[in-house]
Amino acid sequence: MDHFSYRDGVLHAEDVPLPAIAEAVGTPVYVYSAATFRRHARVFREALSALPRVHLAYAIKANPNLAVLRLMANEGYGADVVSAGEMKRALAAGMPAAAIVFSGVGKTEAELAAALDVGDGAGIGQFNLELEEEGEVLARLAAARGIAAPAVLRVNPDVDAGTHAKISTGKKGNKFGVPIDQAAAMYARLSLLPGLSLRGVALHIGSQLADLAPLEAAFGRVGALVAQIRAAGHRVDRVDLGGGLGVAYREGERLPTPADYGAMVARACRGWDVELQFEPGRVIAGNAGVLLTRVIWVKPGGDHPYVIVDAAMNDLARPALYDAWHDFVAVAPSGTRMVANIAGPVCETGDTFALARDIDTVASGDLGVFRTAGAYGATMASTYNSRALVPEVLVDGGRFAVVADRVSPESLIAAERVPEWL
Ligand code: LLP
Repeated sequence: MDHFSYRDGVLHAEDVPLPAIAEAVGTPVYVYSAATFRRHARVFREALSALPRVHLAYAIKANPNLAVLRLMANEGYGADVVSAGEMKRALAAGMPAAAIVFSGVGKTEAELAAALDVGDGAGIGQFNLELEEEGEVLARLAAARGIAAPAVLRVNPDVDAGTHAKISTGKKGNKFGVPIDQAAAMYARLSLLPGLSLRGVALHIGSQLADLAPLEAAFGRVGALVAQIRAAGHRVDRVDLGGGLGVAYREGERLPTPADYGAMVARACRGWDVELQFEPGRVIAGNAGVLLTRVIWVKPGGDHPYVIVDAAMNDLARPALYDAWHDFVAVAPSGTRMVANIAGPVCETGDTFALARDIDTVASGDLGVFRTAGAYGATMASTYNSRALVPEVLVDGGRFAVVADRVSPESLIAAERVPEWL
């Protein structure tokens, strides 16, 4: 459920009509609903309330805007980060260092060191190790600081998550985690290192999962691994179950709910006696944002007209990258429909949001939105074609604020240099 709805024929974000935002900030612009973020944060927490020990680490990569992070911190969420930059954001938003989990397949030594030095030298709450050598480097850095770094070992459970190949992460051959059949032996070796406090295991099999069965299968394998590690005399008191829960991108689409997910976790992880950790991203942010855009032209096309909007693949990359579907609706629909292709102004055919789509009839100058753009939207934006970096607005009830400026081509040019020898 989200808080974007029509009132008197005009699409609102909570109590704010979207034309008011277009007027004040211009388009394209991402618009987020604070009430929707809060609701999703609470629904997800509630879905896990039957579990004894839970740590919620919002996957910052989905939407790392500082205001969003503050909101999630206020909801009691920590953060799953994958770079020193994301860690800095989490801290800047007021999340405690101890609530930060550092995932990522290529953490550099400098990043590991930086993560040990925050929190007044106590370091972050957890490092999710991707390979044995990383554990050795971390142990060395931590020992030099007189601490033992809390860590878990990420395993690759070799299941097919049934999602888009580019966002599948838990199948043998993917770059993530250590093969599950090698994990127990590696765990035993890493447990001997004085600079490490090895606490358990982690997994994340992919994103936009539409079926819980692969997750349940993966959790089953991890449960067996936990038993094996314990039988060898080692401590396991945390299991990080990652993120991955999908959201509906099309009107009427049905996906497993957080409650379905919570029930499956309770079943699959019964008796583990660990702190279960979760890294939800999309399920929190996806439906909490839209990309508001203005139609530039309706251009006659081959089979269908092209609706050329002022948002492009550089602002919302998902359709170009993953052939992803984002519903498009008019902000003030006239009641009639048209079949059209929707594309942006960028100079490549890949800059197409939809083909032969049945949409509200729109004309030049009309406003429309791409829905479910709160996750992996603004954060993946670029300035390709020397377009301004898209701004972000947060609505909260009847007020709104620009929470990320439109970064102008002038300031981008100002960050570049022509060497004097040219
Ligand atoms: N934890 C780890 C270790 C991850 O790699 C990810 C996402 C998450 C948690 C959060 O997953 P979520 O709950 O959001 O599914 N750009 C792509 C999605 C990439 C996901 C990468 N990892 C997209 O736009 O679909």
